[in-house]
Amino acid sequence: MPGFEIFGDEERNEVQDVLNTGVLFRYGFDQARKGQWKVRDFEEELAKRLSVGHCLLCASGTAALAIALASCGIGAGDEVIVPPFTFIATIESILSAGAVPVFAEIDETLCLDPEAVKAAITPRSKAVIAVHMCGSMAQIDLIKQVCDEKGLILIEDACQALGATYKGQAVGTFGKIGCFSFDSVKTVTCGEGGAVVTPDKVVYKCAEQYADHGHNHEGTDRGLEEHPILGTNLRISELNAAVGLAQLRKLDMMLKTQRANKEVLVEALSQFSEVSLQRIPDPAGDSATFLSFFLPDEERAREVAGNLENAGVDGCFYWYDNNWHYFRQWQHLKNLESAAKLPLELLEEVPDYSTVNLPRSDRIMGRVISMQIKLAWTQKDMETRISKIGEIFKK
Ligand SMILES: Cc1ncc(COP(=O)(O)O)c(C=O)c1O
Repeated sequence: MPGFEIFGDEERNEVQDVLNTGVLFRYGFDQARKGQWKVRDFEEELAKRLSVGHCLLCASGTAALAIALASCGIGAGDEVIVPPFTFIATIESILSAGAVPVFAEIDETLCLDPEAVKAAITPRSKAVIAVHMCGSMAQIDLIKQVCDEKGLILIEDACQALGATYKGQAVGTFGKIGCFSFDSVKTVTCGEGGAVVTPDKVVYKCAEQYADHGHNHEGTDRGLEEHPILGTNLRISELNAAVGLAQLRKLDMMLKTQRANKEVLVEALSQFSEVSLQRIPDPAGDSATFLSFFLPDEERAREVAGNLENAGVDGCFYWYDNNWHYFRQWQHLKNLESAAKLPLELLEEVPDYSTVNLPRSDRIMGRVISMQIKLAWTQKDMETRISKIGEIFKK
């Protein structure tokens, strides 16, 4: 990753098809588009690739999360259990729906601990968003079991994990609905884009309507279509979908390269006794976008992260100090800083996020570094990287 490393004629040709017709929009203009339906083609191919009944493309992964929550009927006052290690978009989408994010601890998979999910359930819990972080996967069967037992809706945020599988099944297809992102740094990128997938026709229909102002898409004239529900505009354009379609067709090749590159680095790191690797519930299904590893303690992890940066080993993330992906640094959430009044400020029982304590997640995140796995690395790049790594770690 990211997929833009291998943009080529395939992407250019798909975009050119769209420009040739001038129809940049997913709906309507049936005559003018001369048979070009890039969004539809991408949806069909992605659904097939993931072996799931329905797929709707949308504007972004964040849009996918908003659509997922709306289509599952999650809104004002509902509690949604989430991990503290995710991109802030997961949390923002819950807040935007008027719902309340409730944090549960992660484990060494860097994803939700199923037992912690259980412990976070209250009478107001409505759903769990399991996030498959860093190209790997959560223990999704156990999390699903908890949801089924407790009557909670399972939503998967698989925005970082296209191509990952758990026991042979694509992540994103275990719950009621799954979300994907095709933003700038994802394995399949189309600039900005996202998708929801679901086995449930009713959920799909609701998603499709919600993402397009409630249109039922059953007529031939958009102006005359029925609007069964209120919605919004979270549509993707044909141009973005055209790029994504070409990228999706390269997914198997990208996974093969990522897995091969990661394997070499895993072998190199395994020589160092101070390093232990992230627990991956099903290693065969890892999409291998990242290699995440633990150091013995926070101090050493911070030192190694600094050394990697100084040595020019690029693409290494020490999430504990970065304010994008881990709860510890989300000051804006802790202070409920929002452009407009948040719906949850109107609620009586809202967690005070500034006092939320996640000691186990802190211990895990304080020790972990994730190294991005690139597609375009040459043999020489890999050798240089391994030699620099060798100078940094203790035998
Ligand atoms: C876990 C996770 N969820 C949601 C998103 C949001 O996706 P997008 O940037 O396409 O809105 C991202 C993006 O990085 C992500 O990593």
